[in-house]
Amino acid sequence: MKTTLQLPFQLKGFLELGDAVLITDSNHIILDVNDTYQKVTGFEKSKIIGVKAGFIKSNLTNKETYCSMKDSLKQQIPWSGIFVNRKKSGELWHSSITITPFKIGNELYYIGIFRALEQLEEGLYISEDKKIEVQRELLKVLAISCEIRDPGTEEHLIRVQALTEKLLKAYNEKNNLQLEPNYMNNVIHSSILHDIGKAGMPEGILYKPGALSIYERKIIEMHPLTGADILNKMSKEINYDFIKSMEVAENIILYHHEKWDGTGYPFQLKGEQIPLEARVVSIVDVFDALTTCRPYKDSWSEEKALAFIDENKGKHFDPLIAETFISLF
Ligand SMILES: [Fe+2]
Repeated sequence: MKTTLQLPFQLKGFLELGDAVLITDSNHIILDVNDTYQKVTGFEKSKIIGVKAGFIKSNLTNKETYCSMKDSLKQQIPWSGIFVNRKKSGELWHSSITITPFKIGNELYYIGIFRALEQLEEGLYISEDKKIEVQRELLKVLAISCEIRDPGTEEHLIRVQALTEKLLKAYNEKNNLQLEPNYMNNVIHSSILHDIGKAGMPEGILYKPGALSIYERKIIEMHPLTGADILNKMSKEINYDFIKSMEVAENIILYHHEKWDGTGYPFQLKGEQIPLEARVVSIVDVFDALTTCRPYKDSWSEEKALAFIDENKGKHFDPLIAETFISLF
């Protein structure tokens, strides 16, 4: 790869700017950085000159961000956006960057000017970590408030979340699925929402001891649809994109009572038509319900509940996920 490794004198003035500045050649090889860049990132100039500018990528920046950057730069148009990079210490560095292409003779250079977002006024920017934290808290409040009538709810939700995490991670590892960490976090944190639709169910039916009539069962079987409706109404009211992207939560709510053999509800989906996240939460939910004592039913022992899951793999449950679940105990 051709690089001049020489910063033309015409560009030296950029290094005097107060913000962090990085200058590369047309192949994104670093030619120089200023003092602020070194101070903010912790990387010494002498160690990074000649290195590709992408070395501080954290992989938390959206792919679309990189695509839009490449598109603009290809057309030699300046580009601005938000990068999440990593400092030398490993700490994340959220910054707004403007990259300006600069032609001198036949050579093209890129001037990258960073501004740390932590310094911007509060309210303009929310870091990825903060977003995840806020989302998690909101989901928990929503789940608990929808099931507030049941005194054991919070403990049930915490157990479902913890078991979903164990099961999903074990299933991912065992089958080398290489699921995205973001997706897995989303499933784990959304699992507590599976029964929010119970908020719309009459208590007399929900906690009725003994068998339900056909009509009572029909009403209970509406809870996935009611839950998806509650979720959609809530996310419409909240004006943040990260709350609006609720597909995983919606799948869990809608499909956690579908069965592998197509005899579940509300859509009678079969096998892999049922989204993975719902197949996972389904096993965890049944196991927790069986092993918990409620006013209207006794609890089963762990062994008996595991035997039930084993007997029903390939019928009620995804057989591979059921096997992984049993192997956790
Ligand atoms: Fe349910």
